[in-house]
Order: sequence, then structure tokens, then C-alpha cells
Amino acid sequence: MEKQPLFPQIHGIMHGGDYNPEQWLDRPDILEKDIELMKKAGMNCATLGVFAWSTLEPREGEYHTQWLFDIMDKLYENGIYTILATPSGAKPVWLSEKYPEVLRVDAYGMKNHRGFRHNHCMSSMIYRQKVRAVTEKLIEGAKGHPGLLMWHISNEFNGDCYCENCVKRFQEYLARKFDNDIDKLNKAWWTTFWSHTYNDFSQIEPPYVNGEFSIMGLNLEWKRFMTWNVTDYMKSEIALLKEKTPDIPVTTNFMQMFDGLDYRVLAKELDVISWDSYPVFHNDYESFADTMSRSAFDHALMRSMKKDKPFMLMESAPGLVNWHDFNKMKRPGVHRLFSLQTVACGSDTVQYFQWRKSRGSYEQYHGAVVDHLGTDDTRVFKEVEALGKELKKIAPVCGTLVKTPVAMILDWDTMWAVEDMKGLADSTKNYVKTCVDVFRVFLKLGVDVDIISSEDELTDYRVIAAPMMYLLQGGIADKIKQFVQNGGQVLATYLTGYVDENTLCYLGGFPGDGLSQVFGVISEEIDTLYPTDKNAVLFADGGSAAVCGYAEILRITGENVTVLGSYQDDYYKGLPAVTVNRYGQGSAYYVAARMEESGMRKIIKKMLKDSGVEAVKLPKGIERHQRTADGKTYCFYFNFTGEEAVIENVYGMELFSRKELSGKLILSSFEMAVILRKIG
Ligand code: GLA
Ligand code: ZN
Repeated sequence: MEKQPLFPQIHGIMHGGDYNPEQWLDRPDILEKDIELMKKAGMNCATLGVFAWSTLEPREGEYHTQWLFDIMDKLYENGIYTILATPSGAKPVWLSEKYPEVLRVDAYGMKNHRGFRHNHCMSSMIYRQKVRAVTEKLIEGAKGHPGLLMWHISNEFNGDCYCENCVKRFQEYLARKFDNDIDKLNKAWWTTFWSHTYNDFSQIEPPYVNGEFSIMGLNLEWKRFMTWNVTDYMKSEIALLKEKTPDIPVTTNFMQMFDGLDYRVLAKELDVISWDSYPVFHNDYESFADTMSRSAFDHALMRSMKKDKPFMLMESAPGLVNWHDFNKMKRPGVHRLFSLQTVACGSDTVQYFQWRKSRGSYEQYHGAVVDHLGTDDTRVFKEVEALGKELKKIAPVCGTLVKTPVAMILDWDTMWAVEDMKGLADSTKNYVKTCVDVFRVFLKLGVDVDIISSEDELTDYRVIAAPMMYLLQGGIADKIKQFVQNGGQVLATYLTGYVDENTLCYLGGFPGDGLSQVFGVISEEIDTLYPTDKNAVLFADGGSAAVCGYAEILRITGENVTVLGSYQDDYYKGLPAVTVNRYGQGSAYYVAARMEESGMRKIIKKMLKDSGVEAVKLPKGIERHQRTADGKTYCFYFNFTGEEAVIENVYGMELFSRKELSGKLILSSFEMAVILRKIG
């Protein structure tokens, strides 16, 4: 596998951030200082134009764009490339004043007033026309500019709209999806229940909070529609850019595991995945190592949307944010650890929101590289500057990829359906958290995990975990069957395969769609535990693991099933809780209860061993990630604890110190190392 650098012009990891010179056009001294400071901080890219619409087009059809191209020139002369944003993330006042249809309508059917940002209706054709007009002006000036690196579409797409246009498009979308056959929809949504049968697509309303929210199929389809509609909108922006500047890659900035949009659908339209990461550092509810492993999970989710190239960290806060419950400063050194973890997980960029703090308004106290103080001697600036130097030292990592034989299946559809199902306990369903917890088990064994969708191929992997795969879609049951038959190891848990893609329950036993044969079990009941309830899994080979949340009662149906653990208590005492079925060449594990980490670790260790995936012994709070290409593997180790840690079996050259390691890596507290690996 060869290196896959994102941009041939850029040698090494990109370092940059959102830059809003439009806020400072009357301060040429500050704009000049910006360039000087950017160079000092080792920045090689800047994201321009996000939210600049009212400066670019102060009145309808009156364009002022030259300032932006002048700044692009200056940046380029100083070795800084431009990521140019289309300005549609926030609209000018004149636009909604003249064309009120661009304003969104909320879930009660109330039209919003103008204000804030990220608030336009994706269905409005007028909005699309107006965005197109201003973007054409940007293209005119930027096309062929040697500093133009990529297009950044809009900003953090999000939010539903329930306006007339959206409702109409929803009905059309449904008619297409159900072949214009309303009976088909009625069946799929089980609408005879509570007499909800529709006679025509035009009768279907979205799930207003004061309206129809009791049809699970409708609720799910509305979510899918919102994704479809945003994607359709985004495609309208991309089409213009690709027509005029076909060689310039496009991205849009995602937000973590955002529950409003299925990012995988948007991802298909983008050249590069980029996202904005704002972990809640130093909080009072989890360890620092847990904050960081959640961050690793988020990176893995983003990385796995385009596995054949690095991703980009489009935004992060150099110091603090202004929208957490408590906006705590990142402690000294944490910025470095966070940024290098991002690279370790497959990003080729470290970028910030924002370069310079705005002087007024909503984000005036949001962290930035340059503070209101305006100097280069602040702690935050110095940390950014030091990181800029370090990033240069790990330039060879650029273009390498995280390649792993282990994947986790996580679907937006499943998340939406699990959250919406009426049953269990809303406060403990925790679909995403459950996935994160399983991910952490692998991570603690030094194993990177791709986070894939049911639509992805499984053939690249040897071990697959699919926690709480409640909804089966994309032919996943067949793919899992094949995967195990061909020698793969799969792990499923309670709440697997209850419903099809329309949220209709499978008949004849869960997990449905043939999966019960693969696992050799049928789940007959699921018990929901109060937080004070206690139970445990007793393992056949000794040891036990506490159970919380959920416990299914299984029937063993397969002949090759081994019971690995059974319940300790309650009316299901002694019944199977963890099983493995030998199926074809592979093994299918079923974990019927929510077990504490030690229990999951035991199973996962066995799966890794049996499939020949390298697991390592890591001290607590140590993370390891690997990037590979051209026959070279770079191994990143992080110590996210306050104690020194010794890691055994580390061989190769450390990139920062240029020292050879022959077995032992000693990492002081909150330190990290990058090793060009030699197999010892
Ligand atoms: C998001 C936005 C930015 C900014 C930051 C603040 O990521 O894209 O414009 O508001 O949040 O953290
Ligand atoms: Zn709308």
C-alpha cells in the first residue's frame, strides 16, 4: 500500500484554522500581524470565508469580494494555502427579509424569526439560487489561484425544517420510496394500528411534536429524509464547484456522531472527510484517558467513512470553547496530546477554530490561537507554535493510513430506531455509549477499530463487533453469515436483529433475517434492570462479570453452541448469557447481557487470539495507534495518566528524539512517542 497524501502541494501535516479577516477589514495592522503570527505558529493553511456572506454581498447582487482574494494572495506569498468556504452557513439579513421562505419552520410548525446561523431551509430553491450567485463570484476570483487548496461547503450542516416546501418534498420522497403505492407504505409502517391508515401520500405530515409521532416507521423515514434533503442541498453546491473547478477537492465539516444526519450518506458526495472535535477535557465525570479514548472513537468513525485516505481535523479549540457546560481551559500539554492523537488516528491535519478571537458577539470568548491580547507570548500561542514545529518532525507519517483487521458496525438508522423504540428504559439504552465501551476494550488491547456501516463490505476484516444491532439493513444479515462461514469472528449483543429497515419486528425469533442460525440462539425475552438491580455472568472457565441494564433470556437452537457464561441470579439464574456458535469456518459470539468491561475483554481477547490479530499488553491509560504505508509502520503511544508508564516490546526509532528503542518504551505522565516500527 502506497502513501495517500491529501494534497500534493503540502509536504507534511497541515496546520491551520478558521480565519475571519472580514471582521478586521478596518484594521490592516491586525491583518498584517496575522500573517506574521501565522508564520511564527507554523501554519500552512487557513480556512477563509465561513460566515462571510454579508461582507461578500452586503446587498442583494452587490458583491465585494476583492478583499478576500487579496488576503488569499498574501497568505499564499507567505506559504499559507487557503481552504475556501462557501458562505451558506449563515445568511445575510437582507436575504430573509426579502425571501422569508428561506427561514425554517420548527417541529411545532412555527416559522422562525431571522437570526443566529445554520438556519436556512434546505428545500428553498431561492436559497440555492442566492448561494449559487455569491459562490460564482468566489469561483471567479479564486479559480486557478495557486493558493486554493480545497472547498469547504457551508458549515456544520444540521437542523430539521418543517416548512411547507419541506413537507411537500417529504411526501414526494415517500412516494418515490414506496413506488407510489400508499398501501405499501401503510404495510411498512403498520398503520392499521390506532387507525392511522393513509389514503394518499399528500396526507402524510412530518412527525410534529404536537402531531403524529407514534409511527416508528414515519419517525425513522423523516430522519432519513432530512439526511437526503441536506445531501441534495449540498450536492447543489458541489455541482457548481465541480463544474467550474473540477480539480479542487470538496469537504464539509462534520460534528462527532451527530444524531441529526447520517453522515455516511453525505460522505459519499465528498472528496475528503473533515470534522470538528471539541472534547470536554478535564471534566468531573470520567478519567482523562476515557475522554481521550472517546476522542479516538470519534476519529475512527470519521476515518472509516473514507478508508483509502487520511481525514482532516477541520476545527479544534486551541484553548477552550464557550459552549460546554463548564468552559474549562485545556491544561498545559493537553493541546499537544490531543492534536497528536488526532494524527495517530489517521488525520493529516490539525486545524483550529479559530485563528483570532472575535472582538464581539456570540463567540468572543471562544478560544483561539491569538487572544484579545494579540501577542505571540501567551501560553496557548506558544503551545500551538511548539506543536507546529513538532508536526514538521512527523511529516513522514503524512499519507499513511490506519489499517486494521477489526471493525465495529454502527448505524445511524439503528441509533435512531433504538432511541425511538418504545420499550426498555430510555435513560439506559445508550446505543452510542455501548459502542464506545466496546471500542475501548479493543483500544486497551492496542487494537485499532474501523467503525463501519451495515452497507460496507466485511471482507477486509477478521473480527467484527456489532453491539445492539437492533435494526437490520443493507443485507447485513447475509453479509454476517458469509463472513462467519468464511472464518470470521463476529460478536453481537442483546437487542440484535429485532426489526427490519422499516422498524417492523421480525417474526419467528430474534435475531431475525436468518441471524439466529448464525448465532445458534433465539432471544425470547429481554429484561430491563433498574440501576440498583444486580446480576452477573458466571463464566464456565471461572470468573464473573457484573451485568447492568439489559439481560436477554436465550433459547439455544444450534447444535454447535457452547455456553461460555450463564446468569448468576433472578428467574433466569443458570440460563445462558454468553454463547459461541461454531458456524462454517468461523465463530459467532452472542453476549445476551450488558456486561462490565472485564467480561467483554475476556471474550474479545479470545476472538483476537483465535483470529490471529495482534493484541498487546498496555498499562492502564496507555493508548496505541498505528499508521502504515510503503512498508513502514508508525506506532503512536500515548500516556494519558499522571504516572510514568513502561511499555514492553517496542522496537524502532522514535521520531521526535531520533532514538532507537530496543524493547522498552518509558513514557512519563502525559507524554507520547512515535516509533517507526521494527518488528522485534
Ligand atoms: C463549530 C463551528 C464554528 C464555531 C465552533 C465553536 O465547530 O463550525 O463556527 O462555532 O463550533 O466551538
Ligand atoms: Zn423547509
